[in-house]
Amino acid sequence: MEYTTDIKGNIYIMNMIFDTHSHYDDNAFDGDRETLLPHIFENGVYAVVNQGTDIGSSRFGIELAEKYDRVFAAVGLHPECLNEKSINDLEEIKRLAAHPKVAAIGEIGLDYHYDVPKDLQKQILTSQLEIAKELDMPVNIHDREAHGDMLEILKKYSPKGILHCFSGSVEMARDIVKLGMYIGIGGVVTFKNAVKIVEVVRNIPLERMVLETDCPYLAPVPFRGKRNNSSYIEYTARRISEIKGITIEKVLKTTKYNAQCIYNITAEL
Ligand code: NI
Repeated sequence: MEYTTDIKGNIYIMNMIFDTHSHYDDNAFDGDRETLLPHIFENGVYAVVNQGTDIGSSRFGIELAEKYDRVFAAVGLHPECLNEKSINDLEEIKRLAAHPKVAAIGEIGLDYHYDVPKDLQKQILTSQLEIAKELDMPVNIHDREAHGDMLEILKKYSPKGILHCFSGSVEMARDIVKLGMYIGIGGVVTFKNAVKIVEVVRNIPLERMVLETDCPYLAPVPFRGKRNNSSYIEYTARRISEIKGITIEKVLKTTKYNAQCIYNITAEL
């Protein structure tokens, strides 16, 4: 049974939430990580993939994955965390990726909002796309204010995986889907001022979407502005079910299945 009902008839989600993108290594969780993780696993969360942003957080993610069955790690260098020495870290990313609980290369990408040189960002991104290809692993892509360059690179490398926290147009989403990739939908879709992402959800088939938190950031309404965690994905799924006119069960079930296929995580956890 994936659902259970309490004495008043309230339905509880069991094992249905797959958080494809989280940052439980973040110091926002330092005070209660050990109690929070077991708690969310009892509240509907099937699995989470913790994303690396540099060598330290990638290693931390692996430590969490060793400790908790339902935590998996992605290892990678985030565009915001790059400097001239980052090129030397690529070998270590490749080495860490061999760990049995590493499910992807991520979080990697382009972020033109920050002052990191674009050439360096592109160089480190493409090197990591090559690592993913060589190891036959999916990627988790970050794209902020860099849609044109990102699409060009993705078309060239055609990786498998997820474009996380999607912020582009319906047209771009269609291009991503055509490449065989998936669209990551997070708490932003619940925000009152959300327009573009609502259109994306309306127009892209559920079969090409996955759910995520990007926690501790981007908590969905009614927790907007507070610390996010994977159990809040229920609210994101509910909003998607309203936009698409389908049940929340269908949203959770399909997106969990999609994430399991992408990350090759099929175990009964
Ligand atoms: Ni992230």
